Amino acid sequence: MAKEQKRKSWAEPFRIKMVELLKMTSYEDRQKAIEEAGYNTFLLRADDVYIDLLTDSGTSAMSDRQWAGMMMGDEAYAGSRNFYHLRDTIEQYYSYKYTVPTHQGRGAEHILSQIMINPGDYVPGNMYFTTTRLHQEMAGGTFVDVIIDQAHDPNDLYPFKGNVDFEKLDKLVSRVGADKIPYICIATCVNMAGGQPISLANLRQLRQWCDEHKIPIVHDMTRVAENAYFIQQREEGCSDKSVAQIVHEICSLTDIATMSAKKDPMVNIGGFLAMNDADLYQKACNMVVIYEGLHTYGGMAGRDMEALAIGITESVHDDHIRARVGQVEYLGDKLAEAGVPIVKPIGGHAVFLDAKRFLPHIPQEQFPAQALTAAVYVQSGVRSMERGAVSAGRDKNTGENYMPKLELVRLTLPRRVYTQAHMDVTAEGVIDVLEKAEQVKGLRITYEPEVLRFFQARFEPIE
Ligand code: F0G
Repeated sequence: MAKEQKRKSWAEPFRIKMVELLKMTSYEDRQKAIEEAGYNTFLLRADDVYIDLLTDSGTSAMSDRQWAGMMMGDEAYAGSRNFYHLRDTIEQYYSYKYTVPTHQGRGAEHILSQIMINPGDYVPGNMYFTTTRLHQEMAGGTFVDVIIDQAHDPNDLYPFKGNVDFEKLDKLVSRVGADKIPYICIATCVNMAGGQPISLANLRQLRQWCDEHKIPIVHDMTRVAENAYFIQQREEGCSDKSVAQIVHEICSLTDIATMSAKKDPMVNIGGFLAMNDADLYQKACNMVVIYEGLHTYGGMAGRDMEALAIGITESVHDDHIRARVGQVEYLGDKLAEAGVPIVKPIGGHAVFLDAKRFLPHIPQEQFPAQALTAAVYVQSGVRSMERGAVSAGRDKNTGENYMPKLELVRLTLPRRVYTQAHMDVTAEGVIDVLEKAEQVKGLRITYEPEVLRFFQARFEPIE
């Protein structure tokens, strides 16, 4: 029999059974809404948004099977059958033996940081994530960036910008000593770098390096399936492997995992901490009862654990992930063709606009990426997220603003939610703003919360 011909299109392997109606707004409505929200898209009412690309977190569409799973919830306080299904699914697909459910990713980060980090420790990572770094700092640790330099350059086309730079790691060890490094935190498809993957080769080398130095690897596996897809597409010798196989291989190279299940596995809420070490598991079980709930439900309802177990199996299907990343690339290509400055290569979960090049007249101190999120919203009703100086926050010791090299706006695609026409409307809106970019004004902060300021800070335009 002839080999099946591969479909050229990335078209979705599903059809739509139910729809959610949206409110349409005018330019004037949106101007008023963004003013009331202090120019912070986190403070908009979702009803005032047409296409919501704020985040891919908890915003994906569950499948009919996941919804059916919700009806199979066993809400027993202890020992729910859904917990065992979830635990076994995690071991099957992700290789980790022990699972502690948490309410979402940061719940897992909290427990892990409190157990493993001592004051004065250093925690290297392939770039930071906002909540991850904060939990490390709150436990007394200091985050150290060990991602390759290319990751900080939005124009560098290197296919694995999530890779670790071993020179940076070696330098850290000789400066502070391996015993001051409780673990190294590796994110798959590094969010803040633009959704950029780490290669299997780099991860294998890291495994060796960590074994030599007796340092465990913590895997922030929030977007591991997207990373695996890029490995399949780009890494030598991997094109014949399935995404599921690559996901399993990535996880097997690491010791511990934190998961925000609101992304890859397409549930609206949930997460977990997973590991292979029995002692660590005991400690995590002791902590989870204080902050989340009993160790067989953590922060989750039985029905949510069931939907998550099913979502994990769906998230690693080749056809699913190809359509998921295909849609992101469709939007990115459309923007790039029109001359919009974006981070390249296009990431797995989002298209990132390069605000420094988009709005060259606004200095970074006036938060160009924040200003761009507001302008895109007012123009088109599309909600995006700032990932630049506002998100980076301040140095915990000096109080100075961090000024990251990457000053980005993230157009994040929820999974299985929007259509190709929605992508066209999004591109039109961004291109319209580009055509009158010089009219966009910089912003100053009028209210700033102490931590994770990007969520609730308020701004006004500098006239
Ligand atoms: N790690 C990564 C890489 C993330 O992207 C997130 C969340 C978390 C950890 C924390 O997980 O939200 O479930 O507590 N990212 C969301 C985003 C908020 O929009 O990128 P959480």
